[in-house]
Amino acid sequence: MTLEQRMKEVAEKVDTALDHLLPKPAGPEANLVEAMRYAAMGGGKRLRPLLVLESGKLFGVDEKALLRIACALECVHTYSLVHDDLPCMDDDDLRRGKPATHKQFDEATAVLAGDALLTLAFEILSDSRTHSDPFVRCDLVTRLAAAAGAHGMVGGQMIDLNAEHNQLEITTVTRMQRMKTGALIAFACEAGPVASRAGPAATHALNAYAHDLGLAFQIVDDLLDVEGVERDLGKTPGKDVAAGKATFVAVLGPDRARAQVEMLAGQAVRHLDLFDQKADLLREVVDFVVHRRF
Ligand code: IPE
Ligand code: IPE
Ligand code: MG
Ligand code: MG
Ligand code: MG
Repeated sequence: MTLEQRMKEVAEKVDTALDHLLPKPAGPEANLVEAMRYAAMGGGKRLRPLLVLESGKLFGVDEKALLRIACALECVHTYSLVHDDLPCMDDDDLRRGKPATHKQFDEATAVLAGDALLTLAFEILSDSRTHSDPFVRCDLVTRLAAAAGAHGMVGGQMIDLNAEHNQLEITTVTRMQRMKTGALIAFACEAGPVASRAGPAATHALNAYAHDLGLAFQIVDDLLDVEGVERDLGKTPGKDVAAGKATFVAVLGPDRARAQVEMLAGQAVRHLDLFDQKADLLREVVDFVVHRRF
């Protein structure tokens, strides 16, 4: 199966699973659940779910369980996008080719839909259908909470907003991007080893892969903000420069940022040397991340 086919398959599986996890609403809170479904379903590359499924497959973890972990992670990721687009943050009207959630609904509903997606993630992870061992479930909950929290994604978002119109050192930008984007991508790649209680060598290799991939992913996101087109991106380009964001492109310029991506991509692939051809799709993901147009 090609990477493109596998990505399509994963996206369909995630949509079906989310449809079950977020059933069509009834009752007075229906509008909130509609907004959650609107934000979470039918769009996005589903890169993080793909990483959960493919890295879990290396350790023979049951795909149904991996899909639940993938959905939990995608709920957190989607919540981060809903909040990231709010007027008080990046103020973006377009997301995944559709009006952002606060445009389709309203700001208060978007805030609440984000909140509820975040808590749903932990409800999914702590359910015994995710893993039979409560210690593993607890480990997954702790790791996702840490990746999403003040020293992970949310902390990175804070640095991102505080740094608007401030020139940051490259080391600070690197740290910010590792927190903002890298932490959730790292969780995607460690879920499989955690669920299978894999040994330290394999766990460490995947972790190192995720760190290089995650940073490369965000640098490409920054490059696409400058070089991409709305039709491909499904979001508005040119926002980072307009907001005075401290990005890799702002600090290094596009050519050096691109060179950094190539360097990180090479490193990411080498971290997979430990694994046989079962990791080929994870190798191809690196190439996809480097050359993506959306
Ligand atoms: C966008 O993430 C936000 C970043 C962390 C750069 P993606 O580019 O993975 O967004 P979707 O899920 O495909 O829409
Ligand atoms: C956001 O980074 C990362 C998140 C944690 C949501 P960006 O602000 O660059 O993401 P886009 O470009 O809006 O997707
Ligand atoms: Mg942002
Ligand atoms: Mg943004
Ligand atoms: Mg961006």
